[in-house]
Amino acid sequence: MSIFAAKFFLTMMPEIRAYIDEHKSRFLDELIGLLRIPSISADPKYKPDVDRTAEEVAAHLSKAGVDKVQVYSTPGHPVVYGEHILDPSLPTVLVYGHYDVQPPDPLELWTTSPFEPEIREGNIYARGAADDKGQFFMHIKAFEAMKALGALTCNIKIIIEGEEEIGSNHLELFLKDHRNMLACDVVLISDTALIANDVPSLTTGLRGMSYVEVEVTGPNRDLHSGVYGGGVANPANVLARMISSLHDDQGRVTIPGFYDKVKPVSTEERKEMNEAPFDLEEYCRDLGIEEVAGESGYTTLERTSIRPTLDVNGIWGGYIGAGAKTVLPSKAFAKISMRLVPDQDPEEITRLFTDYFISLAPSSVKVRVFPHHFGLPAVTPTDSLEYKAAELAMTDSFGKKPIPQRGGGSIPIVSLFEQILGAKTVMMGFGLDSDNIHSPNERYGLFNFYKGIETIPLYYHHYAQLKKS
Ligand code: BES
Ligand code: MN
Ligand code: MN
Repeated sequence: MSIFAAKFFLTMMPEIRAYIDEHKSRFLDELIGLLRIPSISADPKYKPDVDRTAEEVAAHLSKAGVDKVQVYSTPGHPVVYGEHILDPSLPTVLVYGHYDVQPPDPLELWTTSPFEPEIREGNIYARGAADDKGQFFMHIKAFEAMKALGALTCNIKIIIEGEEEIGSNHLELFLKDHRNMLACDVVLISDTALIANDVPSLTTGLRGMSYVEVEVTGPNRDLHSGVYGGGVANPANVLARMISSLHDDQGRVTIPGFYDKVKPVSTEERKEMNEAPFDLEEYCRDLGIEEVAGESGYTTLERTSIRPTLDVNGIWGGYIGAGAKTVLPSKAFAKISMRLVPDQDPEEITRLFTDYFISLAPSSVKVRVFPHHFGLPAVTPTDSLEYKAAELAMTDSFGKKPIPQRGGGSIPIVSLFEQILGAKTVMMGFGLDSDNIHSPNERYGLFNFYKGIETIPLYYHHYAQLKKS
C-alpha cells in the first residue's frame, strides 16, 4: 500500500465517517425536502414541480461546493449538471442519477402520503426515496464530505436528469451536444439494488425496453350491451384475446423474430448466476403468491435478468366506475412493455410487435400502436479497473466482496454513455428489491443511505489508486 493509500485509510476514512455522523440529521432533512416535491415526469400536470426539483438539486450541488452548476432546459424536462475539477491530470468520475419519479398511484394503498416523507423502523417512506432521489443524493453528500475534508481523489462531474422514468428521450441529444463537457473516465450510478444488506452486490447488466400503447376500436360509440351485444365485435374482448396470444403455453413470446437476436448466455455464466443467494420460498411469501411463473427452462433469476419479456402494464376500456353499467365499449387500450436483452434492438422489436399485433386483429376492429420509448440493453464488464474499484470500495465498507449480478430493470441512457462518451458504467446501487420502487409505500433504508455515503469516497480512492498504478 502506498503512503497515500495508508493515509487515506488511517486518517481520511475515519474523518469522513465522523463527518457523516456529525451531519447525518441534516443530510436526512435535506433529502426529505427533495422527496416532498412531486417530480412526476410522466404527468404534464406536474411540470412546475419537476422544474422546481431541478432547481433544488442545482442548489444542493452549489451548496456542496460543485462548480459550474447549471439547469439546462431541454424539449422535455431539465437536466442538472455541475463539475468540480481538482486537477485535470486526475481521473474524472461522471455521476449520473435522476430526480424524476414514477406516479404514486394507487394512492389508497400508501400508509402515509407519498410526498409527505415519514420515517418508520429505519426506513424513509416516500415516492422516489430509493428510486432515485435517496440514491443520487448520497453522491452529493459524499462529495460534500470529501470536499470539506480535502479528501477528494478524483475530479467529479455530475448529471441528474428528469426523464429517466419516461425513457430519457432527450438525454441522448444532450450527451451528443455536450460531449466535451461530459468527457470522463467512468460513469458511476447508484440506481439499482443490493442482494441484501449483508450480501453486497454490483449490477452488471440492465435490460432494454420497448414500450408501446395499443388502441383497439370497434363501433363508433359505446353501445347498449344488450341491444348490440352478440352482434358487434367488443374491442375489450378482442384486445384480451390478442394479448393472450402474445405468449405460448411455455411462456414464450410468440412475436415472429422476437428471439432471433438474443445472444446466448453460456452454461458457465448461467451456473454462476444461479449460485447467487436466492430463496424461492421467501420470494413467493414476500409477494403473496403460491407459485412463480414464466418462460419454461429458466430459473426465476434468469427469467428476471437474461431473458426478454412482454408484459401488460395497464389495460382499460368501457365502464370502470362504481357499480355495474351495461355497455359495450367503443375502444379498449393497453400499455405494453417488452424488456430486452443483448443484442435485441428496441426499434426493430417495436416494428416486429406492431406488425404482428396488427395481424392478430379481426377485420371487425381497427388497431393502432403508439410507441412510447425505447432503451438499449447493457452489460458491463467485471474485469475492468472501473469495476474493480467498486468491488474494493464495497469490500471495505461491507466487509464482504460484492457479487456481480445482472439486473432486470432498465436505465435507458447507460448504453449511450458507452456509445457517445466512450465510458464504461459502474452500477453501485444501495437499494433493496423490497424497497417497493414503482409500488405503493416506496422506501429507502437509512442504513443504505448512510452506507452509500460512506462507500462512495472509497470508490474515488480506489479508482484513483488503480488508475495510478
Ligand atoms: N432504477 C430503475 C431501474 C432499475 C431498478 C434497475 C432496479 C435495476 C434494478 C429505473 O429508475 C427504472 O425504473 N427504469 C425504468 C426505465 C423505463 C421507464 C425505460 C424501468 O426499468 O422501468
Ligand atoms: Mn431509477
Ligand atoms: Mn424507476
